[in-house]
Amino acid sequence: MSPLKSRKERPWWRDAVTYQIYPRSYADSNGDGIGDVEGIRSRLPYLKQLGIDAIWISPWYPSPQHDHGYDVADYMDIEPDYGTLAQAETLIKEANDLGIKLIVDIVPNHTSSDHKWFQAALKAGPGSPERDRYMFRDGKGPNGDLPPNNWEAVFGGCAWERVIEADGKPGQWYLHLFAVEQPDLNWENPEVVAHLEDVLKFWLDRGVAGFRIDVAHGMFKEAGLPDIRKDPAASMLGTEHKPFWDQEGVHDIYRSWRKILDSYPGDRMAVAEAWVSPSERIARYVRSDELQNSFNFEMLTTLWDAKEIKTKINNSIDALEEVGAPTSWVFNNHDVVRSVDRLDLGLTNHGDTTLSRQGDPKKLNIARGTLRARSAALMTLALPGGTYLYQGEELAVPEVRDIPEDRLTDPRWKMSGFSDRGRDGCRVPMPWTSNPAGAFGFSTNASLKPEQAWLPQSSWWGTYAVDTQDGVEGSTLSMYRKALAIRKGEEGLGDGPMEWIEAGKDVVAFERPGDFACYINFGAPIELPSNSQVLVSSGPITGHTLPTDTAVWVRLVS
Ligand code: NOJ
Ligand code: CA
Repeated sequence: MSPLKSRKERPWWRDAVTYQIYPRSYADSNGDGIGDVEGIRSRLPYLKQLGIDAIWISPWYPSPQHDHGYDVADYMDIEPDYGTLAQAETLIKEANDLGIKLIVDIVPNHTSSDHKWFQAALKAGPGSPERDRYMFRDGKGPNGDLPPNNWEAVFGGCAWERVIEADGKPGQWYLHLFAVEQPDLNWENPEVVAHLEDVLKFWLDRGVAGFRIDVAHGMFKEAGLPDIRKDPAASMLGTEHKPFWDQEGVHDIYRSWRKILDSYPGDRMAVAEAWVSPSERIARYVRSDELQNSFNFEMLTTLWDAKEIKTKINNSIDALEEVGAPTSWVFNNHDVVRSVDRLDLGLTNHGDTTLSRQGDPKKLNIARGTLRARSAALMTLALPGGTYLYQGEELAVPEVRDIPEDRLTDPRWKMSGFSDRGRDGCRVPMPWTSNPAGAFGFSTNASLKPEQAWLPQSSWWGTYAVDTQDGVEGSTLSMYRKALAIRKGEEGLGDGPMEWIEAGKDVVAFERPGDFACYINFGAPIELPSNSQVLVSSGPITGHTLPTDTAVWVRLVS
């Protein structure tokens, strides 16, 4: 166990509550139906009131938006649709002035195919230094007609694309682990290493508190780029060995990035998006000379089951304690089906970065899913470590299932041969007002209709709006605000010890310093200890009875 330090003494990232903003979908300040930097700035008071410690902004760099910014054309500027670099600098400063840290999303595994480096590589031809910044290879077969190996892209289909050379004939192939428009960089190339270091410094100089590192387990590929050994059983379970994930080389990069972060004042940090398991593999990203946080994705793959959740908590905490790092809980992000749906329908992640199985929405019991999602939030906010929240979860929005097919934009939709609707359903623009004008308050343009936002909002979307929940006792927004305020005032919440409480096989319960306890009930109603004073709960509670699917924070008074 790491030595217990007071909140003022310990680095902020050990137990921060970080709120993820998907900039395209947060708030539109200029009426074009697309979220932007000024929109985010206009919502800083809302974020301050919510009580989060930091915001993480999904990529906001110039991008042709084939994967909504995760295809970066220039790492040192702002997407014109989102605003300007000057506006971003103002946002960082104003957030800092309010005591809100801001972290940006860095995408080092691949660039956009529009990046000037990739365009130069296409022109320069085989064997050139320009091509060496990417993963170009000759094809197999007599005419090089076959891809260099059997790797498949995460979004579906072959991970290799053949280019047309200057002579007008098909030539080399390049690797793209994601969309065709996202060519993988070659991390053996010193120019790539140096450029990304410059990118980190560029944003650190502008006052960001740190970085979320996209595909942090993917930058290095196994030497010789060997075929994936096909094992149908392992493929079904998503446990297949992939020669492009979790290679040793990434750790050298993080050791050098750590030195850069530490050379700036104010506990700058980075969090890895590393889809690796088991927890011991995650722990390797947060060794004391590497990164500070790594998302714990265990809760994205969990069923609503006391035993499973308890085991996952134990494994996660134990593995990270070995290296002295805090856990970083995640129940939602822009890649997975919303927790309201997941926890009710029993959806689990199926191996890769997104939930490919979306379940049968007709079976969704929305009231039960909402209660479970709220209980899950209270649970993670009471556990040791930090928590990453995703915009909209403070409103308990469900997954949007009725986006018309011709409006789906996730590259996964096309690359899966139109069989997987992809991730648009968790990216629909925020509902700020119940009034549909301005796409439920998403846009300053009052005549913008909900279906005219960049992703259409459904007619029912306004029932989740901020203004219907604001100040309403028992609303999800009120629950989050209350829980975050309590968490701020409790010195022992966040980083620090926890003790399990035995309260039956269908209950997850634990105690934290300050006679604080959290109970989550997965089974039939239970009685809370008679000396418990309720601080906040995820659903109505009468007396000391904790109903099914409900979570509660209590003070155990003596
Ligand atoms: C993970 C990101 O979270 C996801 O949205 C993106 O599509 C892939 N990385 C590729 O950058
Ligand atoms: Ca806009």
